[in-house]
Formats: sequence, C-alpha cells, structure tokens
Amino acid sequence: MPLGMVRLSSSAVKTLLSLLLLATGCPLMLFPIGTVQGSDSFPSNIYPTFIRNDTLFEHLALHPDPDVGRVYVGARNRLFQLDPSLQPELQDATGPVTDSRDCLPPVTETNCPQARETSNHNKLLLVNPYSMELITCGSVNQGICQKRSLDSVDQVLFSTERPVDTQYVAANHPNVSTVGLVVRSHPDKQPVLFVGRGYTSSHPPISTRNLAQDPIFSYEETAKLAVAGRLSEYDHNFVASFAHRQHVYFLFYRRDLKSPSREYRTYISRVCLDDQAYYSYVEVPLTCRSRTGKIYNLLQAVQLGVSKEDVGGRASETLVGVFSTRLASNRPSEESALCMFNLEDVDRRINSTRDFCYTQMGKEAGVEAISSANIELMSSLCSPPDTGCSLLSAMQV
Ligand SMILES: *[C@@H]1O[C@H](CO)[C@@H](O)[C@H](O)[C@H]1NC(C)=O
Ligand SMILES: *[C@@H]1O[C@H](CO)[C@@H](O)[C@H](O)[C@H]1NC(C)=O
Ligand SMILES: *[C@@H]1O[C@H](CO)[C@@H](O)[C@H](O)[C@H]1NC(C)=O
Repeated sequence: MPLGMVRLSSSAVKTLLSLLLLATGCPLMLFPIGTVQGSDSFPSNIYPTFIRNDTLFEHLALHPDPDVGRVYVGARNRLFQLDPSLQPELQDATGPVTDSRDCLPPVTETNCPQARETSNHNKLLLVNPYSMELITCGSVNQGICQKRSLDSVDQVLFSTERPVDTQYVAANHPNVSTVGLVVRSHPDKQPVLFVGRGYTSSHPPISTRNLAQDPIFSYEETAKLAVAGRLSEYDHNFVASFAHRQHVYFLFYRRDLKSPSREYRTYISRVCLDDQAYYSYVEVPLTCRSRTGKIYNLLQAVQLGVSKEDVGGRASETLVGVFSTRLASNRPSEESALCMFNLEDVDRRINSTRDFCYTQMGKEAGVEAISSANIELMSSLCSPPDTGCSLLSAMQV
C-alpha cells in the first residue's frame, strides 16, 4: 500500500514534511504540534521568528483570511496572537489554575479540597471560519472550551460556565492526545466540531459537538461513537483529523488487543460528515513497512497533499505520514520512516471493509481487517441509515 518510502532521522523528517507540504501547496493545514521558532536550517535573519523561553508551544492556527495573515499559538498557560511577521499583538494567560482531574468544574476549595495549582495545556486551537471565532480548549476543568474573538485572543465570547459532562471536550491530561476540526456538511447546515480524544475516563473517543445551540460544545444532540466493549480498550493516541469531500477522517494508533503481541498499530477511520449516528464509521489499519519488512507502527505526523503529476489531469490526494517504531517505554523512537498513501486506495479499502461488514455481518472467519468491536457495532446497525452519504449500495441486496 505505501507508495514510496525513505528513511531519515526523526527531526529531519519533520522539517522535510513541513517543507514538502508547503511546496505542494497543501490545502489543509494540520499542525498537531506547532512550534514557531527558528532552527539551523532557517537563519533567523531571513525568516521571522517568535521565541518564548518561558512556555511550551502546543498548537498553531492561522486566521482564515490570508490577507490578515494573523497567527495564533496555543501554549502551556498562554495564548498568543501574532501578526504576519510573528510580532506579538496580544496574549492571554489561561493558567495555572486551581484544579484537579478528580473534580468537576466549577472547582472550589469546598467541593475539591485536593485541588492544586495546575498548568493549563492547550489541547485544541481551532478557527471556526463560518462564525469567525477561535475555539480554545485546555486540559484543566475537564477539558472545557471557550469561543474567542479572532481580533482579540484575550476576548472570551463564550465559556461553558456550569458544564455538564457532555460538554467536557478535550482530554483532561497533558499527555493524552486530543484532535479536532470545525466543518459543516452543507452551506445550509450549522458547522460542528468533530473531536477525537484519548482515553481518560468515560468519554467517547470520537464525538460531534454542536457550536450553535445550547448546550454549546455538547454532543448530546449531535453524535458520539458508541463502542462495543470497554471504553478503556479504545485508548487511542490521536494524531490528526481532517475533512475531505463528504467525510471526516481520524488518524490514531492504539494497542491491537486482538493480536497475540498486543502491539500498537496505526489506524485511519472515516465517518460521513452528516451522519447523525456514526452508522458510517469504519476504521482500517494503516501499515508503514520497509522493504526488509520492518514495521514503523506509530504515526507521528500526517498531512494530506495533492499530487500534480496524475494521469488524465485529475489531482489525486496523498496522505504523507511520518511513522516511528516504539521504545520499550511506549514512547516513539528516533527511528522513523515516511510513508505515502493514496487516499483513493484508503477509501477503497474502507469501502470494502464497510461492504463486508454489512453484507457478511463481518462474521466470516479469518478477516483481520475489521476489529471485532467494529463488527459488533456495525452488525447491530444493519438497517439502511439515512445519512445522505450514499452509504451502501451493497446493503440493498
Ligand atoms: C529568556 O528570555 C528572556 C527575555 O527574552 C531573557 O532575558 C533570558 O535570558 C532568557 N532565558 C534563557 C534561559 O534563555
Ligand atoms: C507526561 O509525559 C512526560 C514525558 O514522558 C512525563 O515526564 C510527565 O510526567 C507526564 N505528565 C503526567 C502528568 O503524567
Ligand atoms: C466508496 O463508496 C462510495 C459510495 O458507496 C462511492 O461513491 C465511492 O466512489 C467509493 N470509493 C472508492 C474509492 O471506491
């Protein structure tokens, strides 16, 4: 499946990846970890830099209007608003705050005596281009979110005051991943926030959050991924999410509990944009393997790019991913590889997995493409869902 592969050191690969994607004029800007800083290969006298040695940069977002060119940086305990030459315009302190992962917000001394000064890590920093707002979610207060002004990052337009648990959005732990995107299925529809978050407690791994009606940021009236089996088995390390045509994709790795080695594996999942119940949710493994058979199983970064050299003049989308091997400590090693996947191949595989699930009920032996939780999930839903995403031709058999 990989189209091509080279081996490079991890840091070289990350630089190369960002260069490559700039060069291909990639339509989607996904920066799981944003750092705005000069490096040896970018002399700081040529390129603008923004350096802060008192915090940790965690996410980066751009103003939707390239003519404005403003840059937002989500950091530990800080949000920055920079002008196009990376000069700071505004900043806002988001932490540290008195908090505890064991307590539900609002946290007070009486209802939460164990609360301590806690750093607020930026877990999501997203632009809502339809309402021209910035969405920020931190690790404190169970991962609740704010809407902020794109003109003044310090101006909070909305904050969940007395949140209910469906409004806890981001992972409440600095080391548990959270990804998301703002998208709408149709110009007549309200935009929604899709979120993928690693396991911390009983929260869905993937959910759709409403941004327009009360309760804001809740998945109550929208959708969440129902999982068969224990939630803790869905301990995803989310790496990225993106929308393409009528689908939203999530990329993550987690332990493959069905294999004897229980080794980590990278997956890509796809759900229809306007699927109110995630009936269309399908996930398939994504394998980055060298010619000698070595498997780089942990996805570290990924970008969707458009290749120009397609026959017939049709642009084809390519997923470019950096994968690492795993150290005994569960952390990614420095050894890494770059793998490219044609999105159409991935879609074809997702389609055949989907068709298999619905037609065979996923019960045929020896098919390892589908996790059994997914089979249970899908086979319990074998009635034609009304998703408007032309779900299944195979289902009308
Ligand atoms: C951090 O930045 C400040 C002001 O920009 C500077 O005075 C200080 O020396 C820097 N500290 C380190 C350790 O680089
Ligand atoms: C997060 O991971 C880092 C690096 O492994 C570790 O040093 C740190 O203690 C972890 N933080 C928490 C709160 O577990
Ligand atoms: C996947 O299935 C959908 C609908 O069933 C179809 O429109 C699409 O072309 C298929 N994609 C590929 C790559 O086969």
